[in-house]
Amino acid sequence: LLFISCDKKEPLSKVVQRGLDISARQSIYLAGELENQMEILPRTYANNELKTAGYKSWISGFFPGVLWYLYENDSLTEIRKYAELYTARVEKAKTMTNTHDLGFMLYCSFGNGYRLTSNPHYLEVLKTGAESLSTRFNEKVGVIKSWNSNGKWQYPVIIDNMMNLEMLSFVAKETNQEHFMDIANTHARTTLLHHFRPDNSCYHVISYDTITGKPHAKQTHQGYSDSSVWARGQAWALYGYTMMYRETQNEKYLQQAINIAKFILHHPNLPEDKIPYWDFDAPNIPDEPRDASAGAIIASALLELGQYVNDDKLSKEYQSVAAQQLRTLSSDEYLAAPQTNGGFILKHSVGNKPRNSEVDVPLTYADYYYVEALLRYKKLLQ
Ligand code: GLY
Repeated sequence: LLFISCDKKEPLSKVVQRGLDISARQSIYLAGELENQMEILPRTYANNELKTAGYKSWISGFFPGVLWYLYENDSLTEIRKYAELYTARVEKAKTMTNTHDLGFMLYCSFGNGYRLTSNPHYLEVLKTGAESLSTRFNEKVGVIKSWNSNGKWQYPVIIDNMMNLEMLSFVAKETNQEHFMDIANTHARTTLLHHFRPDNSCYHVISYDTITGKPHAKQTHQGYSDSSVWARGQAWALYGYTMMYRETQNEKYLQQAINIAKFILHHPNLPEDKIPYWDFDAPNIPDEPRDASAGAIIASALLELGQYVNDDKLSKEYQSVAAQQLRTLSSDEYLAAPQTNGGFILKHSVGNKPRNSEVDVPLTYADYYYVEALLRYKKLLQ
């Protein structure tokens, strides 16, 4: 009997529940650690030290977002109190016009908060955020500028920017302001045209010439090389086009999401446990760090994409890979034991390997998409 029970896989419903329970315990612990530090949000944990950030960081919205998802799961008053507290700490980001990351910062926090509470103030914050983000759109180029120009790049746009379109689409629908949707759609169309290679992998950075409106550079910032396949970039692309299909029903976005999924899932360097190395072309695979954040984003995106494809075989493939990813991320290798890992949920993510920054550490965005994927899987099981 012992042999049989050890050999049997834990049912996925149990994996999901265990993952959510541990995530709640960890997040309450982490929220308590920083509760009295005004304006501070968690970032990572390295060398036994909790690293934090303020509202200006691109990661500011993820921890509040984790708390909202956990509140959605079990309606705990304590979690809601913390979700409100940490969401408020991000509010000042709403008037920032020097970054494209406002979707990450505000939609994960205020967007989830509004979805779950209908607090009208949260909607006001999202509207202001959409206004601020749209100031970075240039009609001639047809994309939102990610970073300001520098000596190397005139008008840099990173694939990550697809993720910021969800807030624009939401505000467009909520307030009948079509121009936000037009900006989101135009950005997605232009990105589809220029960001992808013939094999459907994507570049990280495309810089556009503001006079011709055409790309003048196709490079990387966080990947191994300009021509390599940075794992999180592929994850943002997959998630971004799946989400834009949901928002627009444009079949071209669905087809692109399917193309990206095909590239990722059939890549010879995707490990058996389905958590990618930080770059699919990293030179020392298999001795390269994995990126749990990329695994979590891909899992969440696949669970959504599986609902849209009109092909049973593909849908099952997406669900089965996502299930494997959730199993791996919920194993001792990735899921931290309560009150370890600085209170973060997952271990082993990679922020920026070329700059040796945040390598093999916990990251709030890995936690956010892991919890989102667990909830998506739970809903599927129900
Ligand atoms: N958006 C920045 C990153 O994915 O690291």
